[in-house]
Amino acid sequence: MDHNFWHERWAGKRTGFHQNSINPHLERHWHRLGLATHSRILVPLCGKSLDIIWLREQGHRVAGIEISQLAVEAFFSENGLNPSIRQGHGYSCWSADGIDLFCGDFFKLHAAELGRIDGCYDRAALVALPGEMRTRYAGALLELLPSMAPVLLVTLEYKPLEMDGPPFAVTLDEIKQLFGASCAIEHLQSFNALEANPNLTGRGLGALTEHVCKLVRN
Ligand SMILES: C[S@@+](CC[C@H](N)C(=O)[O-])C[C@H]1O[C@@H](n2cnc3c(N)ncnc32)[C@H](O)[C@@H]1O
Repeated sequence: MDHNFWHERWAGKRTGFHQNSINPHLERHWHRLGLATHSRILVPLCGKSLDIIWLREQGHRVAGIEISQLAVEAFFSENGLNPSIRQGHGYSCWSADGIDLFCGDFFKLHAAELGRIDGCYDRAALVALPGEMRTRYAGALLELLPSMAPVLLVTLEYKPLEMDGPPFAVTLDEIKQLFGASCAIEHLQSFNALEANPNLTGRGLGALTEHVCKLVRN
């Protein structure tokens, strides 16, 4: 999955992954992470997600990472925010109202550039990446997280023969393989997500399960 794939999706407005309402798993399970109000939350591969606004409304500061400048611009303009922009090495950082969006490649951003992180929210980030990139993603994410930092992770599972990703299927077993050595994993919920995702049903899926997990970095 190269960068052009995503740049073309944003340029062509083919962003079916974007949700026009707050993710229900975030609202339901976020409190289980037990994070203090002033915590700073990493949102990798953040798009223009409204979940960032919800996290901010909980009192958190947010650090998102997104490769598409169109997405970053859209996030600030659609939410009526006027960002200041700082140029870094290989990325730009757009900031307004306690929200920093780093526009650049997630795999190239270092912890020192990102600043302090207390927790993480991953919806449609891990599942956006094909298999070998997911291993790299997990390694890079773990590098950015301090010890004891919790993560709320939402993944999708379906029969890979029924549909080509993205989104890619990520099972509970794969979550254990990717994160089990470095994190305590608590499976919070799994449920049938077919009806809530008519765009994926239209791509041939006969069954779709969403998994919600809490990870805590060792
Ligand atoms: C499936 S979308 C999910 C967006 C967001 N998490 C949401 O819930 O709407 C994946 C996003 O990751 C971005 N992306 C893909 N590869 C990236 C990378 N290497 N670094 C930063 N962002 C990336 C894409 O531009 C896209 O906006």
